[in-house]
Amino acid sequence: MKAARGDIKPEDLERYREWGEKHLFQPNVARSTTYAPDSFRLFVKETDGCHVVDITGKTYLDAFASLMYVNVGYGRQEIVDAAYEQLRTLSSSVGTSPSIPQIKLAKKLAEITPGDLSVVFFGNNGCDAVETGIKLARHYHKLSGYANRYKVICRRREYHGASFGTMAMGRPLKSGNPLMCEDYGAYGPFMPGVIHVAPPRCYRCEYDLRYPDCDLKCAREVERVILREGPETVAAFLSSPVSSQSLVDVPPPEYWPMIRSICDKYGLLLQMDCVVCGFGRTGKMFGCENFGVVPDIMSLAKGIVSGYLPLSATIVRTEIAAPFKKTAFKHIYSFGGHPASCMAALANIDIIERENLVENSAVVGRYLLERLQELSHHPTVGDVRGIGLFCAVEYVRDKQRKTPFDEALTVRLKQKLMQAGLITRTRDSSTQFLPPLIFTKQDADEAVEILDRAITEIENELA
Ligand SMILES: Cc1ncc(COP(=O)(O)O)c(C=O)c1O
Repeated sequence: MKAARGDIKPEDLERYREWGEKHLFQPNVARSTTYAPDSFRLFVKETDGCHVVDITGKTYLDAFASLMYVNVGYGRQEIVDAAYEQLRTLSSSVGTSPSIPQIKLAKKLAEITPGDLSVVFFGNNGCDAVETGIKLARHYHKLSGYANRYKVICRRREYHGASFGTMAMGRPLKSGNPLMCEDYGAYGPFMPGVIHVAPPRCYRCEYDLRYPDCDLKCAREVERVILREGPETVAAFLSSPVSSQSLVDVPPPEYWPMIRSICDKYGLLLQMDCVVCGFGRTGKMFGCENFGVVPDIMSLAKGIVSGYLPLSATIVRTEIAAPFKKTAFKHIYSFGGHPASCMAALANIDIIERENLVENSAVVGRYLLERLQELSHHPTVGDVRGIGLFCAVEYVRDKQRKTPFDEALTVRLKQKLMQAGLITRTRDSSTQFLPPLIFTKQDADEAVEILDRAITEIENELA
């Protein structure tokens, strides 16, 4: 375990709480919530693997991999060394010149991604990787003689980032209510030309149908929407292979092949947001490989460096990149593909491959899912689903009606888990597990036992 720095003392907690409350915006959460004296936490160090320690010295099992990205786990010295060596040698890309780390990483990504995904644009965050893909899709169509293909079909219950473009394309769940989607009303107007369709959400189907009798209406609707809008106006279909926002609704096996063939039929590019589903999360190196589909454009971030440094990548098929050999793609991020981040990413991918973490994600993920399914006997466990180390439990007040927990109840459950030393994403009447891919069966047992106890306590309160 790494030693905490000398200037971090438990008695300083209150001082940091006051400074933070005064000076620091909190992403996505009201500051009064984050800095509430009875629940404020300050993490100060990581241990090797899946654990982090707060300022009071309490250790937590992090079953959410920070924000779904510490795929290789905490405390990886070789990633730190790779970045450090690069910073000592050449700390920047020097203007718009490519750097050797960028070229090496682009080649590596071309090798490990499926099909002929082969040409990479680097950025810093998931949202820029998604937007880069949409810009490329629009420009590609213009260069191919389709000047009016600008619309993007996206799915409800998805999140693609916090920039204006990705906010237009995302429709995440409204805070605390899994039955409604966010409209970001406070920030509009947004990028026009975005059309939202129903997600493959079998537990709460928007059409009130049941798989397989539904005949995949959610996929078939995409064709109807394209015809309604005019195929010559639609540039791309954008979605995650499996969405964390949709509380891990794993689509039926036919879904993605159907979407791929609809895109091909009408000339749309298929862009997959693999920001979460990349680098082993779903038990395959990339989420789309579970469904036998290769997208035209794939957006990557998070697990690409396991969060040790910022980096994102957008990789496209050879054919999509071809027109850009002679035409400039007008797009640049000052720090996109920072050479230290690229070297760190290469070290990160090396660990994933050397330690068979993709297989571990599949094997331990299956085990975790089975253990979580054992909780189905609880009257409040409505559904359990997952793929790889990417699992969710959805809670209901009433199994028949599927009435979700209200926010206060979900918050109470989350507090119980935190008190027991388990970090998860517990919100929207659900708990999500996306731990580091080094998670063991023992870690899974520990997490499920803590959750089991917490659910029982909540049910006793309700009784
Ligand atoms: C599926 C998906 N896409 C894109 C993003 C945006 O990534 P970032 O926060 O790095 O911009 C996220 C963030 O959680 C995500 O979950």
